Amino acid sequence: MSNDNQNGSRAGNGAGNDSSKNRGLLVFGRAFLKTPAMLGSIIPSSRFLVERTLRNVDWSRARVLVEYGPGVGTFTGKILKRMHPEAKLIVVETQSDFIQHLENHFQDPRLHVVHGSAEDVSRTLQELGAASADYVLSGIPFSLMSDEMRDSILRTTREVLEPEGAMLVYQFSPTIRKPLEEVFSRVDREFEPLNVPPATVYRCVP
Ligand SMILES: C[S@@+](CC[C@H](N)C(=O)[O-])C[C@H]1O[C@@H](n2cnc3c(N)ncnc32)[C@H](O)[C@@H]1O
Repeated sequence: MSNDNQNGSRAGNGAGNDSSKNRGLLVFGRAFLKTPAMLGSIIPSSRFLVERTLRNVDWSRARVLVEYGPGVGTFTGKILKRMHPEAKLIVVETQSDFIQHLENHFQDPRLHVVHGSAEDVSRTLQELGAASADYVLSGIPFSLMSDEMRDSILRTTREVLEPEGAMLVYQFSPTIRKPLEEVFSRVDREFEPLNVPPATVYRCVP
C-alpha cells in the first residue's frame, strides 16, 4: 500500500538529514529526562517500526490522518511524504519542546500541529473542520497512564473514526491488547523486533 512521495516536494521533512536527525535526538533525550513517563521510550521509533506501522495505511483513500504523540516527527515526515496532496495530517502532542521542534522542521500546509492531549481529539477535529478521521496513529504510552484516561482515549478515538478507518497503535508493553479488544470490533497485531525496545503494532478497526 506504500506510495512514497505523492507530494514529496511540499513536505518539509526536517527529520531527513543528519544534522536535523541529531537535533531531534537531542530534543527527544532532553524531554525524556524531564518527563520519562510521558514518553515511555528514550529514543524515537526505528525506521523498521515506522514502516511496519505505515504499511497498514491505504494512502489513496486517507484524507484525514491524526497522529497522537509525534515527538520529534519520526512518523510525521514519512506520513507527509506518502499522503494525498489534499489530505490533512493533525498531530497532537502534549510536550511544548516537541511542538516547537515540529513547527520549526515541517513546512507543509497539510500539517496541523496541535499542542494538546489525545483525550480531546473530538474537539480538535471539529476545530480543524474535520468531522471524522480515516486513520489515527498512536505511540503514546498507554501502559504508563491511568486506566480511565487510556479507556477514554480509546473510546473517543473509536467514535471519531470512519467506519472503514483504523487506529494504528505501536506499544512496547503487551498490556494494551485487552483494552483494545474491549473497545474495537477487530484487533490484528504484528511484532517488530528491530526497535528499541521491540514493539507490537496493533491495527484496530471500529
Ligand atoms: C514513545 S514517544 C513516541 C514519539 C514518536 N512518535 C516516535 O515514534 O518516535 C510518546 C509520545 O507521546 C506523547 N504523549 C504522551 N501522552 C500524550 C497525550 N495524552 N496526548 C498526546 N501526546 C502524548 C509524548 O510527549 C511523546 O512525544
